[in-house]
Amino acid sequence: MNKKLYELPPLPYRLEDLEPHISREQLRIHYEIHHKAYVDGANRILQMMDKARAEGASFDVKAALKLLSFNIGGHILHTLYWHNMAPAGRAGGAPGGRIGDKIKEDFGSFDRFKNEFTEATLTVEGSGWGALTYCRNTNRLLIMQIEKHNVNIYPTIPIILVIDAFEHAYYIDYKNDRKKYLDNIWNIVNWDEVDKRFTKLT
Ligand SMILES: [Fe+2]
Repeated sequence: MNKKLYELPPLPYRLEDLEPHISREQLRIHYEIHHKAYVDGANRILQMMDKARAEGASFDVKAALKLLSFNIGGHILHTLYWHNMAPAGRAGGAPGGRIGDKIKEDFGSFDRFKNEFTEATLTVEGSGWGALTYCRNTNRLLIMQIEKHNVNIYPTIPIILVIDAFEHAYYIDYKNDRKKYLDNIWNIVNWDEVDKRFTKLT
């Protein structure tokens, strides 16, 4: 019974590479402790369910599935987040490519998009995420607020950019100032990666 489990993926840059916007220590704790905890948490539940099924034992299905979706959501969102950031030298600014054009078409301007996205991420209730998604049915970019890692998700609408608004993403560098973190994060958004994700869908 050696079923596949989730793994902590390698970061696409070194821990210090997002400085000064995200410090080495902030990134290290976020990645090595918080992201890893979601991977381990998901695997623990999967293994518990595998064991219970093999033994014909019962388990609390509702509680297990709730925890599983929280942990898998955390793992998938963090993986997207690491890759939609890059060192400031090759990130930030206004997006080009097809995503740049689409943002202008749907939001009017990049500044308008940035303000709406920042507000969405700033006002996520409790801990959560701001996400840019693309609806293939209506050919629209949609901003989504994700509470925790798994609430308010639009089923089947794929995510192309996420910003982590859990306090664990910024408290070492910015204390409780989520707005200051969000103002700085735009310097390290990897628009090439976002454009690649968008282009693949269209
Ligand atoms: Fe996080």
